[in-house]
Amino acid sequence: MAPGERLFVREDREGDSHWTVALSEPAAVYGERVTAVEDSVLRRWDPSRSKLGAALAKGWDGALPRSGERWLYLGAATGTTASHVADLVGRDGFVFAVEKSLRPFARLLALGRRYPNLGPILGDAHAPLDYLPMVPPVDGLYVDLAQVDQVEIARENARWFLRPSGMLLLALKTASMGREKSPRDHLASAVERLSPGFELDTPLGLEPFHKRHFLLGGRATGAPAVPEPPASPKRRGAPRVARRR
Ligand SMILES: C[S@@+](CC[C@H](N)C(=O)[O-])C[C@H]1O[C@@H](n2cnc3c(N)ncnc32)[C@H](O)[C@@H]1O
Repeated sequence: MAPGERLFVREDREGDSHWTVALSEPAAVYGERVTAVEDSVLRRWDPSRSKLGAALAKGWDGALPRSGERWLYLGAATGTTASHVADLVGRDGFVFAVEKSLRPFARLLALGRRYPNLGPILGDAHAPLDYLPMVPPVDGLYVDLAQVDQVEIARENARWFLRPSGMLLLALKTASMGREKSPRDHLASAVERLSPGFELDTPLGLEPFHKRHFLLGGRATGAPAVPEPPASPKRRGAPRVARRR
């Protein structure tokens, strides 16, 4: 991967490290190191705190969020990785960050007040129709849910939100998919279920940073991804917070 204008690779004592150009003030979000370079502030992307950070540390050269893009992020928690994604897409892009648990959502909400391009949404990724009114078609979908049905949730949200040829990044936690199969078998089954709709890059194991995790990424193939709404959509209550540019 050639570092983009908002992603930097630096050599330090521990080897190469990845940094994003901070959009918020103050810059640090989760206690990560920050440093000033010319007129920018960079935030170190900690691979042990973020699966995408771990993938970069391990040489991921597949799909990545780019400047100016809109991303839908499912499972944002307190915003550790979502904030780096927001840095990558920059002021001309936007990240719609969905989280269902109140406790992390409270911190995500506070982060959203600091970040000009991060919109927290209290919602359940199983119910995309709930946030359909506030999320337009997106260039990328990031999924990090640690749920047994994480692949199905990714497919369903892609169907509603992802533009044709849009990017998918899925942090696959195989431990959430049951212990009766090996991590490799879970990975193979996830790839099989995603392959009809996505041209996937080679999956990357995230050990030693995140045990039994893989990063899957690729581009949507085929027909326009956003279907017509059903005649009488079944809604499970509107999400409570959203902010858009
Ligand atoms: C592994 S953590 C995410 C970490 C985060 N992506 C990061 O790197 O900073 C998974 C998160 O997904 C959330 N989650 C699980 N199921 C969800 C669902 N159906 N809808 C929305 N969020 C969900 C959990 O509450 C949890 O905060």
